[in-house]
Amino acid sequence: MAQTTTQGADREFRDASDNNTFATREIERRRSSPVFVSGDDVRARMAAQEPTGMCFLIDPKLGFSVRSIRMWMNFFGLGEGAIGWKTLGHRHLIDAVIHIIKGRGYSVIDGIRYDWEPGDFLCVPTFAWHRHVQVGDEPMVYIAGTTTPFSMALGVSIHEDERFPEYWVFAQKSEEARTTLIPGGAEVPESASQPMFGREPGREAQLYEQQVAFAPDEQTRRRRARILIKGSEVEFGKTRMGSVATVVDPRIGFNTHVMSTLLAEIPPGHRSGAHRHMYEEVNHVLAGEGYSIVEDRRYDWKAGDSLCIPVFSWHQHFNTGSATSRFLVHTTRPAMENLGVQVTQHGEDADF
Ligand SMILES: [Fe+2]
Ligand SMILES: [Fe+2]
Repeated sequence: MAQTTTQGADREFRDASDNNTFATREIERRRSSPVFVSGDDVRARMAAQEPTGMCFLIDPKLGFSVRSIRMWMNFFGLGEGAIGWKTLGHRHLIDAVIHIIKGRGYSVIDGIRYDWEPGDFLCVPTFAWHRHVQVGDEPMVYIAGTTTPFSMALGVSIHEDERFPEYWVFAQKSEEARTTLIPGGAEVPESASQPMFGREPGREAQLYEQQVAFAPDEQTRRRRARILIKGSEVEFGKTRMGSVATVVDPRIGFNTHVMSTLLAEIPPGHRSGAHRHMYEEVNHVLAGEGYSIVEDRRYDWKAGDSLCIPVFSWHQHFNTGSATSRFLVHTTRPAMENLGVQVTQHGEDADF
């Protein structure tokens, strides 16, 4: 009996130690995770799938240090001209940003059409039905950043598409259920799920009615939020990190809560600032060549390569080429600010 108690105590002690040692192991995990993704390898993977396919660039399931975001490339009609590609109509509980690299077309998002061309960005609101359609005879390439791993980790990942309506979780009940941006929003009569401010004046009643009001209010925010960003509208500004254009961010009218997207440029012969931060970051090199220092390691890059910056790792980028380098950057800074734990420490300033 005494032995059993001791074993139980040992197990409890080990479990408690797990909490204490987690951070140590987490640092080791981040340090040993891959940082660099070769664009040459990606091009070879694309060639093996032509004319149409998908390449994950950075994803937790490929061993990268990220837990909450991923980045991938979709391509259609490479090597054979356009193939009249269009996606299924679908919707999901994620933040999603698409950057058009090649090709032209339009997307229908929550019933509204948005035309796009190379250089444009689309931020698809959470749980909005959408379909992307290619037009013209050029091949189509886009890079997407999404927070699917985050939704999966939270146990709230929902994806509905027109191919499998029998598996729809929330869209199968009624026409109203298909038009709402609220998961489960039409499962009960609307009258019962409307807030009743004032009927019960007590504090607890008010707090509960605020809770009831959240989903319809959030749906309104989703429908009011910005969606299409033309490449010609992107404006760069000077920061201590260098030249940056914030493209998608809750601070400039988008309704993302987890992800933020920006572009960063470095002129030839110059370097970015150095910093580290308590959020995840993935980079894709759109143009130029150079190298990055991540903690104590150097990674040489050129257009088409990608980098996965481990959480709270110092990083700085250097342009060694003759043209301006441009990075596409997705981060989880908004998520960390919503959790109250975002930290950014700035080191050296950019030299331009
Ligand atoms: Fe989608
Ligand atoms: Fe960063």
